[in-house]
Order: sequence, then structure tokens, then C-alpha cells
Amino acid sequence: MASSSLPSISLPVNVFELNNILSLVLTLTITSILLANGAMAMAIPTTLDGPFKPVTIPLDESFRGNAIDLPDTDPRVQRTVEGFEPEQISVSLSSAHDSVWISWITGEFQIGNNLKPLDPKSVVSVVRYGTRRSQLNRKATGRSLVYSQLYPFLGLQNYTSGIIHHVRLTGLKPDTLYHYQCGDPSIPAMSGTYCFRTMPDSSSTSYPSRIAIVGDVGLTYNTTSTVSHMISNRPDLILLVGDVTYANLYLTNGTGSDCYACSFANSPIHETYQPRWDYWGRYMQPVLSKVPIMVVEGNHEYEEQAENRTFVAYTSRFAFPSKESGSLSKFYYSFNAGDQYKWLEEDLANVEREVTPWLVATWHAPWYSTYKAHYREAECMRVAMEDLLYKYGVDVVFNGHVHAYERSNRVYNYTLDPCGPVHITVGDGGNREKMAVPHADEPGNCPEPSTTPDKILGGGKFCGFNFTSGPASGKFCWDRQPDYSAFRESSFGHGILEVKNETHALWTWHRNQDFYEAAGDQIYIVRQPDLCPVQPETYRLNKPKPQKAKRR
Ligand SMILES: *[C@@H]1O[C@H](CO)[C@@H](O)[C@H](O)[C@H]1NC(C)=O
Ligand SMILES: *[C@@H]1O[C@H](CO)[C@@H](O)[C@H](O)[C@H]1NC(C)=O
Ligand SMILES: *[C@@H]1O[C@H](CO)[C@@H](O)[C@H](O)[C@H]1NC(C)=O
Ligand SMILES: *[C@@H]1O[C@H](CO)[C@@H](O)[C@H](O)[C@H]1NC(C)=O
Ligand SMILES: *[C@@H]1O[C@H](CO)[C@@H](O)[C@H](O)[C@H]1NC(C)=O
Ligand SMILES: *[C@@H]1O[C@H](CO)[C@@H](O)[C@H](O)[C@H]1NC(C)=O
Ligand SMILES: *[C@@H]1O[C@H](CO)[C@@H](O)[C@H](O)[C@H]1NC(C)=O
Ligand SMILES: [Fe+2]
Repeated sequence: MASSSLPSISLPVNVFELNNILSLVLTLTITSILLANGAMAMAIPTTLDGPFKPVTIPLDESFRGNAIDLPDTDPRVQRTVEGFEPEQISVSLSSAHDSVWISWITGEFQIGNNLKPLDPKSVVSVVRYGTRRSQLNRKATGRSLVYSQLYPFLGLQNYTSGIIHHVRLTGLKPDTLYHYQCGDPSIPAMSGTYCFRTMPDSSSTSYPSRIAIVGDVGLTYNTTSTVSHMISNRPDLILLVGDVTYANLYLTNGTGSDCYACSFANSPIHETYQPRWDYWGRYMQPVLSKVPIMVVEGNHEYEEQAENRTFVAYTSRFAFPSKESGSLSKFYYSFNAGDQYKWLEEDLANVEREVTPWLVATWHAPWYSTYKAHYREAECMRVAMEDLLYKYGVDVVFNGHVHAYERSNRVYNYTLDPCGPVHITVGDGGNREKMAVPHADEPGNCPEPSTTPDKILGGGKFCGFNFTSGPASGKFCWDRQPDYSAFRESSFGHGILEVKNETHALWTWHRNQDFYEAAGDQIYIVRQPDLCPVQPETYRLNKPKPQKAKRR
């Protein structure tokens, strides 16, 4: 979990290992419902057809409205429960397929002055669950907490949350539907009955079939469009690659802005309006009470407050498989930068690639985005970590942060490389900040190199350099869309990753302005274990020569 004492050097990396599939039946059934079969599948390009000539889809001015936040009067963000009944119910994954977290909130938040935080012990945390709706015969208990967002400045309001509950269910069967109720049976205040499906067995049988991936979501009318498109694609798991609620675009008095930095220059600290988190939790409950979510932190989760505390809402509200799994987690983990390299190396070295062919890594700030916004902002992280991801054959990297869509060719150290990962930016969830449109390679758009490192995500260090070879040699930016960028488009949307077998994964990006099933970008990501060995020792000895970039 992010250390709240040293947030500036906290760099979460999450590695997902998708296991071998023996039974394709379920996957194929689902696929055929979603029209990605037959003739259409024939036309889908694969990474083996690459590297692709860079493509930029021109901005469609016609759909460029402002992204406007749902107001606090919207029924979907209002509290609809009474007393200590559960709200903001969500499911998230634990370290292994046989366990999940159920999280919810009871009691009302308070905002203003002289607040009396609720006593977290006053409401217990119980989940009753079972495989039959009529027979919730198992019971788990968990922990509860309250957090506060405090501002010791005249005129600013403090916030204290409702009681946040996290209960871990264990011993679950793989790929099984569970029904549950959560709450405090002694009050009594139990929720209605919800259900979720566990992930498939991670030992060898199958992959999670449909993983929705999106970042920088916020809570605008465009977010609601993204979410309804995502629901229509029936994900088994949602991966949120950072920047969740954008509560930090608001002052504590509830006044918001599309650009905090240019609006509230007189605030003594970067304020937040914490009720936006509650709004987000309420809006998302219909989805997240059913489909597990995994979250990566973004810069908007930083949220500094009194005593230099940061990331408090984020770490309090979401359950993470940190304690139970620590760095040993095979599914999700994050850690501080000092230990990051070592832990990642140990974890990657422990992956048995015969059983677990697919490695997907996610973090917030992209390395291979070509937009002007956040251009080469995480360069220090790239310099420190890229060789590790390459050496251990990470297949795909997902990032957010840049509010647009982009997919790279296979790339390593800015060089086209058939064994490098495909980097995909999906920071296009629809938040109220501006969509990213200008590219760093357009005239006048290349940022001054020293201004590029991100203070929060990059620790303020500068690791940038000018390219030493290729068309951009001697320069910090290309003067046309870089070779490593295969496809870029400024639209809101989300993506779905479907792992088909040990060599093929289908990636589909869906734009909000399209019909639900339409694909804005689609490609098979194909692994080549023979060309790109993933056993590190073998790999060092037989490092394949990168192929010459070929053009279509
Ligand atoms: C955002 O939503 C508004 C309607 O609420 C729409 O007019 C606009 O086109 C959307 N913007 C994008 C980029 O999809
Ligand atoms: C908010 O909390 C801080 C820290 O405890 C305190 O100094 C400040 O006076 C409080 N503000 C209000 C408005 O209650
Ligand atoms: C909130 O504070 C800002 C800055 O002091 C002020 O301009 C705005 O009018 C306030 N809004 C409300 C609803 O009080
Ligand atoms: C907060 O950070 C500031 C500046 O880095 C430092 O001077 C101060 O001592 C810190 N306060 C606490 C309570 O850690
Ligand atoms: C990456 O490229 C840079 C400059 O092109 C070079 O100095 C560096 O050694 C390369 N790093 C690796 C790990 O190959
Ligand atoms: C790097 O490239 C930028 C332009 O892209 C240029 O302004 C700068 O002088 C270059 N720096 C060095 C050290 O060559
Ligand atoms: C893997 O899946 C792809 C796409 O569905 C298919 O074309 C390919 O033949 C499959 N490979 C194996 C080894 O099953
Ligand atoms: Fe961000």
C-alpha cells in the first residue's frame, strides 16, 4: 500500500498474472454474444503484423462538449439509506482467487467545523454469504475505520467519513457465483442481497475472461457514459489505473473548477471536497457491488491535509491485498520506490511462465505517451524499471494519467523491439479536466525538458535526455508521430482485455460516442515465447536481435 509518510516516492506497480486456459468453452460463449466472432475476427490485426505505421485519428470537434460533474442534487449521488444501513458497497480482489474483499460505509459523513468523528467500533462489520441466494450460511467479520481530512486553516472546512468497513471472504471456490449481504445484524442494519463471481482458478485452468480497463474517471456525465458502455461489455473485473474521483478539483466549501491550478490561487493548501468520494461510491455501487475492482493510485489521490498526511481517502476507502499478501502477492502489490526494484524482481523471477504466460503491469503515468500533457513525466521510473519488465517478458502495460487513448508498437528503451511490451494509455474515463489533444511532436508543443518530471509521481527528479539515434536524434521530442506510437485518438472510452490462450489476447478500445459494441481500436496482442524467452537466465544468454522496424 502507499506509505502515507513517504508518498512522494511511492510508485505502485501492479503485476497481473493470467493463467493458462484449458477450457475455452466459457470464453467462446461470451465472445460470440459480443459479436467479436466469425468474419469480424478475421479482420483483426495482430502485433505480429507490426510494427505499425503511426496513426493519429483527428479530433472530432462535433462531440467536444465540456465534461460536467454530476451535481450533488443528482439522485445517483445522494444517500438513499437510513441510519446505519450499508451504502457504497463494493467488491475488490484479494491476493488469490479464493478470496475477495467486501467494503461498505455506514453512517453519515460530516463536513464543517468542530466535528465529532463516529466511533468505528459502534457498528460491526459482518458479511453473510453463500452460493445460494436463499442460503447465506457462511459468515465473515472484518475491520472498520473512520478517516478525517483536516485543514488547520481559517475558513476551510474539515471532513470526517462515515464508518468504512472491509471484510475479507476466504475459502471461496473459483469461477463461482456468491450471494452476500453486508452490515450489522445486531442493529439490525443489513444490506440487500448482492452477488459477485470469483475469478477462475489461478493454478492452471483459465483466465479472467473480460477485464475492463479505464483510468482518470471522475464523475461527469461523460463518466456515466463510459460506465454504461463498460457495463454493456460485461466485464468480470475492472482495473482502474488511477485518478478516481477528482475530489481535489473542489474547495472544501463545495465550489469546483475544471482547472484547480488556474482557479484557486489563494487557497493555503490544495483543498478537496471529500463528499465527492461518497458521491462516487454511491454512483458506482450498482457496478462495484457485482464486479470486482482493482485500483492503482493516481496523482489526484494525493490529497494533502494537516500534518502532511496524503492519500488518506484512497487508502481508507479501498481494500487492498496488502497485509494478507504483502510483497508476496502474485496478483497485486505496490511498494515504496526504494524497495520497488528488488520486490518486483523477486516477484517476476518467481513467476512460472509455463503456468502463467501472461504478465500485465499497470501504473498511473505512462512512459510512451506522445501527448503534450505529461510528456515523459515518469522518465525516472522508466529508466529504473524498464529493463526489468523487458527481461521478464511483461506483455502489456496499462496506464492512465493522459486524458486520451494511445497504443504503442512493441517497444523497449524507445526502440521498436518485437519482445518489448505494448504500452496502452486509457486515461480517457471522462473526468472534468480537459481531454488531452495536443501532441508533443506538433510544432511549438515540445515541453522544455526540465519542466517535465512530475512532482508527485516522479519525486521531482529529472531523468530525461535527448534521443541519441533515429529521426529525433539530439532532440527531446520527435517532429512527427513517433515510430513507437501505433495509434492515438483523443476520445473518451474504456478498453476490454480478453486473454484467449497462452499466445493471444484480444484488446478492444470502445469510444463513448460509438454504439456499444463498436471498436475504436482492436488488436490481438500475440506473445512469441520462442522468439522472446521469458526465463531470465536463458534470456540473458540468448537475447534475440531486435527486428528491423518494418512498415506496412
Ligand atoms: C461529454 O458529454 C457531453 C454530454 O453530456 C457530450 O456533449 C460530449 O460530446 C461528451 N464529450 C466527449 C469527449 O465524449
Ligand atoms: C480542522 O481540524 C484542524 C486540525 O485538527 C483544526 O486545527 C481546525 O481548527 C479545524 N477546523 C475547523 C473549521 O473545525
Ligand atoms: C467558496 O470559496 C470561494 C473562495 O473563497 C468563494 O469564491 C466561493 O464563493 C465559495 N462558495 C461558496 C458556495 O461559499
Ligand atoms: C510537513 O512538511 C513540512 C515541509 O516539508 C515540514 O517543514 C513540516 O515539519 C512537516 N510537518 C509534519 C507534522 O511532519
Ligand atoms: C537506453 O538508451 C539510452 C540512450 O539511447 C542508452 O544510453 C541506455 O544505455 C539504454 N538503456 C538500456 C537499458 O539499454
Ligand atoms: C534537447 O532538445 C531540446 C529540443 O528538443 C533542445 O532545446 C535542447 O537544447 C537539447 N538539449 C541538449 C542537451 O542537447
Ligand atoms: C489462440 O487464440 C487465437 C485467437 O483466438 C487463435 O487464432 C490461435 O489459434 C490460438 N492458439 C492456440 C495455440 O490455441
Ligand atoms: Fe493523473
